[in-house]
Amino acid sequence: MELNTENLPCHIAIIMDGNGRWAKKHAMGRIRGHKKGAKAVRETVTACRELGISYLTLYAFSSENWGRPGHEVKALMELLEEYLDNELDDLLKQGISLSTIGDIDRLPPSVQDKLFKVKQSTQENKKMVLTLALSYGGRDEILEAVKRVAKDSLKGLLSADEMTKEQFATYLHTNRLPDPDLLIRTSGEYRISNFLLWQLAYTELYFTDTLWPDFSREELYKAITVYQGRQRRFGLTDEQIESDRPV
Ligand code: IPE
Ligand code: IPE
Ligand code: MG
Repeated sequence: MELNTENLPCHIAIIMDGNGRWAKKHAMGRIRGHKKGAKAVRETVTACRELGISYLTLYAFSSENWGRPGHEVKALMELLEEYLDNELDDLLKQGISLSTIGDIDRLPPSVQDKLFKVKQSTQENKKMVLTLALSYGGRDEILEAVKRVAKDSLKGLLSADEMTKEQFATYLHTNRLPDPDLLIRTSGEYRISNFLLWQLAYTELYFTDTLWPDFSREELYKAITVYQGRQRRFGLTDEQIESDRPV
């Protein structure tokens, strides 16, 4: 599939859903679905990097996913560790830096150590920022930000009355990321599932029935092509947007 490389999204966020259903469809256990899902992660990261996407944010494990059966949570943590072990060289080669959002302190110490190592080793890379949302919940993030704002306000470090949206956003885990331009959710579910609640305010949403382990470069191009056909109005009128367009 040919892709127009003008007007690419600067930041793509993905809710990678459907590993369990993919496994069921192939008469396998859920963990096999997650393993296949990790391969789709590799392909997507490389495809985005090659296209010149600046930011890719992947929802890998939600705050609510802690409630899954213990053996599944354990397997997901092991897979994450394996991913970090295997990918470091490739991330370095591709000039990708790794970052995370979410409550990383809740992850097993061995995973935290590996994350720290990969983040440190890749921090100078400038081609693309890959952010993994781990133990992440949008409401948790906003609540934590509000608590920190309240504390800073009590300390006299800021005036709560004069706080702007931009200032508030610096208290979020995503403070170094622009808002996503395009959100992709796989597996035919039409919901946000507590992902980037603040940041998605004006993001273009794209839903596909494809299950995450089957997601491919082709699917990514399809989503981007749909995005390129959308008119983002940010609350303004069609005419206002057209008249602002560079000629
Ligand atoms: C997404 O796939 C991976 C995680 C949430 C960790 P699921 O495991 O949610 O797959 P389904 O939704 O059960 O098919
Ligand atoms: C969203 O998928 C979380 C991730 C992809 C990590 P879920 O499978 O947890 O979402 P729900 O439960 O279907 O809303
Ligand atoms: Mg799911």
